[in-house]
Formats: sequence, C-alpha cells, structure tokens
Amino acid sequence: MPNVSAPDWSALRSEFPVFEHTTYLNTCSLGALSRRTRGAVNQFLDLWQAYGASAWYKTWLGEITALRGSFERLVNAQPGTCTIQHSISAALAVIASCYDYRQRNKIITTALDFPTIPYQWLVKPEVEVVILPTDDQISVALERYAHAIDERTALVATSHVFFTSGYIQPAAEIARLAHAAGAHVLIDGYQAAGQIPVDVQALDVDWYLTGGLKWLMGGPGIVELYARPKLVQRLQPTTTGWFAHGQQFAFDPQNWAYWDDARRFELGTPAVAAVYAARAGMDLLLEIGVEAVRERELELVGDLIGRARDAGLRLKLPADPAEHAGIVMFPADNPGAIVKTLAEHKIIVDYRPGHVRVSPFFYNTVDENALIIDHLARLVRG
Ligand SMILES: Cc1ncc(COP(=O)(O)O)c(C=O)c1O
Repeated sequence: MPNVSAPDWSALRSEFPVFEHTTYLNTCSLGALSRRTRGAVNQFLDLWQAYGASAWYKTWLGEITALRGSFERLVNAQPGTCTIQHSISAALAVIASCYDYRQRNKIITTALDFPTIPYQWLVKPEVEVVILPTDDQISVALERYAHAIDERTALVATSHVFFTSGYIQPAAEIARLAHAAGAHVLIDGYQAAGQIPVDVQALDVDWYLTGGLKWLMGGPGIVELYARPKLVQRLQPTTTGWFAHGQQFAFDPQNWAYWDDARRFELGTPAVAAVYAARAGMDLLLEIGVEAVRERELELVGDLIGRARDAGLRLKLPADPAEHAGIVMFPADNPGAIVKTLAEHKIIVDYRPGHVRVSPFFYNTVDENALIIDHLARLVRG
C-alpha cells in the first residue's frame, strides 16, 4: 500500500487569515481567501505596474493558458477541451447560441437548479423550457428525467450539486438518459468541483461548467467550461467575440475563423486579476487532492449533522451521506435575521428562502461546528 499521509489540515487552515478573527462557514457562497491567492493577485498588480501592456505577452496570456491546463487536470479533461468564461450566465449564453432549436426545441432543467439556467432559455420564445419538479425539495427523481427527455430535447441542463440542498445528482445517469434520446447534457458544477472529485470523461457529459467563486477558492470573475471533444470540433457559437477567433491578433474584420479548440467558446478580454486568483485557488486544491478534501468534508458534515440532531434541530438533508456535499440546510422561520445575528458574533453563514445554510469546507473544524450549533439551537427556536 502506498504511504500517503493525510494533509495537515491545521497548517492549511492557517493559510486563510479570516480564521484569525471569524468563524467562516459559508464556502458555498464564497470560498475563503488564502494568502496564496492574495499573493497571486499582488503578482498580477506588480506585473501591470512594471510592464504595462507588455505584461500581456510576457506573462498574462501564459497565465490564462496555465489556468485552462489546471482545470483540465482537475476534471480529467482532454487537452484543448477547456476554456474560461466571465460567469456561468455568460457561458450559458454562448452554449445556448450553439443550438438550432428548429430541430430540437426543448430544454430540460429542474426546480432546484440555480435560476440563471432556465432564464437563459425562458427568454427565447422558440424554446420550450421544461422545469422538472422536486418531491422533497432535496433531489429530483431520475424517473422525472426519463419521462421528460424525448426526441425533441436539445439539452438537459442541471446541477451536479443542488445549491439549496447539497444533494449530489447522478450526473452520469442523467447523461445516459439524455444520450439515449440523442440529447446533450450540461452540468453546472459550481457547487461541486473542488469539494467532490469530478471526472468529465467518466461522467460522459457534453458540457461541464464551474468557477472559482466557491469551492475552488478563486473568487469572482472567472468560470471554467469543458466541452466534449466532438462538440469542440463541431459546434459554432453565434454569441461570440474576438477571443473565439483563431487568428485574433490578425484583426481582420472581413473573415471569421473559430479556434479549433475550446477557445472558440470564449468572448472578450478576461479579467486577468481574476485569472490569477482562480489559478492560485485551483492549484492549492490540486496539491491537497480533491479526494482528501471530500473525505475531510464527509467527516465535518457528519459531525455537524450529529451535533444538530443532538441539539434537537431540524434539518433538510439527502438521506444517504454519500449523496451529500458540504451544504447543510436548517429550516427556520426567520433565516435572514438569524444570519444577521450570527454575523454580529463573527460567525458567517448564509440563508436561502426558509433556511439557514451552513457550508463547512476542509479548512473548518469540529470546534466551529460546535459553536454554530450552540448558536442555532438558541436562535432557530427563537
Ligand atoms: C449552482 C450555481 N450556478 C450558477 C451560479 C451563478 O452564476 P453566475 O456566474 O452567472 O453568477 C451560482 C451562484 O452564484 C450557483 O450556485
């Protein structure tokens, strides 16, 4: 057996200055800032100051390429299949522009997905948007997908992890159902990549989106996009920009030619400071290893749930811990007020309608779990 030692979680925690003064349990809204990420953004500023526009050619374009490479490693994607975008919404706009809805006019998503997914197609009168219901507010039954997907379906677009329940969807199964009907599948992995291992080839998905904001600890401004190799060769987005042009620096206004790799799904100049932050966060995760992070997450979430049950708190949870990522929902009548009171005690969590949302990550501790449950036991009962 290989002798792989567990990461030093307490040393890793000390990389995040927020913990010197705050109990931060809100990674599903915004990952904590590490010293490394701050250092990377400072490096961007230093290069800007020292070289001005020559920094583009000296290092910035290379940094963008390196971020694409890090993402390919993170999700086990083939070279040339990944690129960056400005937000999930911008990526969806480009992807939506690749399809001819005269042939297949149906998009399937669910009531538990982040609403920017349906919004993208609700504004297109030629598209029928089917929003699959949830029976328990936690998951969407696979039978619902099987029943809805048909020969008119262009795309099934849904989350890997639901943002208001932490449920890990069986993305490979959903892909199988979509492909059996000749449809594509798009997985929004914003709440997944970084906290659960992702292998886009094993999942056999057509699109995978995620970003630095949350579990990849890279802050706002950059998301990552994977497209199946066959789609990279074939699809031609009509929402585009000069970064999608294969000879972008020819500045030729007469002729259009897509990149022959995933850069064809780009738009315009990326936020380079955000690229530096995104790469620093992602590389830290690659060094720790997402498998180790997931193991730690399972321990912390299990501990948090155990303490909540002991304290008599209600929970909204997937039944099987193997299907549960690091988002724990506590039903409450006044979640906004509770979150505000907790912030006054320097405990940062979040809320969504009817629930306080707590999201531990590898850098949190069981002591923080104990503290938040102590407060919630008082505040939720009011
Ligand atoms: C699952 C999921 N998708 C998408 C978004 C947001 O997308 P965008 O990058 O367009 O703001 C969020 C939250 O910020 C999210 O939780």
